[in-house]
Amino acid sequence: MAAPKLQAPRGTYDVLPEVAPARLALESIARRVLEGAGYERIETPVFEATELFSRGVGASTDIVQKEMYTFTDAGGRSLTLRPEGTAPICRAYVEHGMQVRSQPVKLWYLSPFFRHERAQAGRFRQFWQIGAETIGTDDPAVDAESIALLWAILAELGVGGIELRLGSLGTSATRASYREELAAYLRAHQQRLSPEVVARIDLNPLRAFDADHPGTREVMADAPVLMDALAAEDREHFEEVRKRLDAAGIAYRLDPTLVRGLDYYARTVFEFTSDVLGAQSAVGGGGRYDGLVEQLGGPHTPGCGWAAGVERILLSAEQRPLPRAVCDLYVAGTGVPAFALAAEARQAGLNVQVELAGRSRKGQRKQADRVGAGFVAVVEDDGSIVLEDVVNGESEAAPGASAAVAHILKGRHL
Ligand code: HAM
Repeated sequence: MAAPKLQAPRGTYDVLPEVAPARLALESIARRVLEGAGYERIETPVFEATELFSRGVGASTDIVQKEMYTFTDAGGRSLTLRPEGTAPICRAYVEHGMQVRSQPVKLWYLSPFFRHERAQAGRFRQFWQIGAETIGTDDPAVDAESIALLWAILAELGVGGIELRLGSLGTSATRASYREELAAYLRAHQQRLSPEVVARIDLNPLRAFDADHPGTREVMADAPVLMDALAAEDREHFEEVRKRLDAAGIAYRLDPTLVRGLDYYARTVFEFTSDVLGAQSAVGGGGRYDGLVEQLGGPHTPGCGWAAGVERILLSAEQRPLPRAVCDLYVAGTGVPAFALAAEARQAGLNVQVELAGRSRKGQRKQADRVGAGFVAVVEDDGSIVLEDVVNGESEAAPGASAAVAHILKGRHL
């Protein structure tokens, strides 16, 4: 009996060669935009101490409560596959004393992350994010620049139907007193609310803003909003961010109910959605996290950043893959002299493909056309070489491997 076939785990996928060009295009555009703005690449480990996320992302968030891949290693340590990148990067900032570098420290990443969520279109258990973090200043210019850079990347990639939602959460003290105010308002209008909303008044009064129930929606239309409760300096900070976005011509919708699934945010929060995506419409999001570095044991250090989902970008972007690598030379022949020619040509910087499937001469010639080779070298086991220039169809015998390589180099640069 044949052994049963195995499949990739639920919520994961293989990056097959046919989608590699689109991912490469995405990476090269992100790199050009971010490195052009002075961001440097960082990679942190795929797993971290579980405590980093319970402390950094927040013990009561869905991510920490329900979605982490947590395991105990042979040394008895609790480790977690990273569900996000901001807490690990702030951990690295503290661990490597990056506060002594010139501030702000500007870092970017393109990495896989893991969340045990219900898998569906656009939502995976292993997914990739491009992200950028700017640590070391609370200047509102950073918030605006972070948004502008993500905007530029999404625009260049041709992500369709984009909307930017923008809000400010103020400080945690502002949020705590606002929650009390909102809960009191909801209690005063209890009889018009849905039973589910009433049941969550103390647990999470903000959820009432998302309800579809008609009575609840009426009540919420007049509910107090957090942005009206901001302290003067937070309000001013937010005004400065908005002025810069306006000056850069970046359109946004103010969303006083924008809540993000991570606890570290303070002041500015934002999210880009695409109406091409259906239910999982968030392409990328982020905000300011001024207390996070301190919470992880570092000095008080403000920060701001974002991350965008690679799968969702690819689902919503026009496909404009990069052209594939050119094949300068196809070596027809499988003997030792053929191998030596391929090696010499590669050392000279040519892109070379070699016959590996034991095809007939005719089959090899067809394969050379399939890969779009500029030259084909038919190499016999006695070392004789016939070189064909595919463009003009001319063939000639080459006196040796070095002569053949020199001829191709000359032809390539004509
Ligand atoms: P996040 O909103 O949780 O933020 O994730 C950012 C983006 O990652 C989402 O907008 C979405 O495109 C993508 N994403 C999240 N979960 C999944 C999933 N299960 N499957 C596919 N894509 C997903 C953060 O992670 C913050 N660290 C962003 C940040 C950086 N804030 C400040 N700096």
